[in-house]
Amino acid sequence: MIQFKNFSASFGGRKILQELTFSLPANSITSIIGASGSGKTTLLRALCRMNDRIENFRVGGSILVDGMDVCRPDTDVYALRRKVGLIFQKPCVFPKSIIDNVVFGIREKITKKDYPDLAEKVLREVFLWEEVKDRLEEKATTLSQGQQQRLTLARTLAVEPEVLLMDEPTSSLDPKSTAAIEKLVQSLKNRHTILWVTHQHDQAQSIADRVLVIEKGQVLPLSAPIVRLVKPFTKAG
Ligand SMILES: Nc1ncnc2c1ncn2[C@@H]1O[C@H](COP(=O)(O)OP(=O)(O)OP(=O)(O)O)[C@@H](O)[C@H]1O
Ligand SMILES: [Mg+2]
Repeated sequence: MIQFKNFSASFGGRKILQELTFSLPANSITSIIGASGSGKTTLLRALCRMNDRIENFRVGGSILVDGMDVCRPDTDVYALRRKVGLIFQKPCVFPKSIIDNVVFGIREKITKKDYPDLAEKVLREVFLWEEVKDRLEEKATTLSQGQQQRLTLARTLAVEPEVLLMDEPTSSLDPKSTAAIEKLVQSLKNRHTILWVTHQHDQAQSIADRVLVIEKGQVLPLSAPIVRLVKPFTKAG
């Protein structure tokens, strides 16, 4: 479904990702782990052409999504964004009502009378419906961080992209919402190809079919099991 072929990315001549060749099978969940600054977000953003406006950003090689080469300058970015949805680490809601945020990506494809049903469907999917059903006309910015994150996920799901890219999507969520989103993602696998970036190694291993590690610009399969280093507790003084 997604194939990286000798893909490289750099900012102002500084290579971040180098000659990556790997593929992500359709209807699978892949987790990506790697140190801060290793290029995880850069990889996700490149996959949906979010770096186009960064002047010194350069790519090499190709990324094929369903045969469409993301790296070609003449690629239809709007068509690509309907196929590939990105959930950012920090929730990014629009200064509009909750319901207008949910339908934002497909507002021109459906009529206004269909907004409530669609909103209820996707808000239920992300376990937000009960919390917002009485305030759908309120500004989305009045929601908590965790609620905003679930709202951005609902907004993305409404567009039904084939590929879901999730950049540390649970880092602002409480344990209950985190567990709910992890469960949701498992159920979405039948319909989507999912790439999930996380710093939590146990989360990476529990939710994904495959864990990749980004290190020194390369993407490698996780070969050794991750050993948790627990510092022995020593009493102060
Ligand atoms: N707009 C930019 N201009 C210049 N350099 C950038 C830009 N965006 C990212 N970088 C650099 O690219 C490298 C990779 O950054 P990236 O955000 O992809 O890392 P990351 O693996 O997602 O880190 P984290 O785990 O902290 O989110 C870093 O050295 C970063 O400073
Ligand atoms: Mg990042």
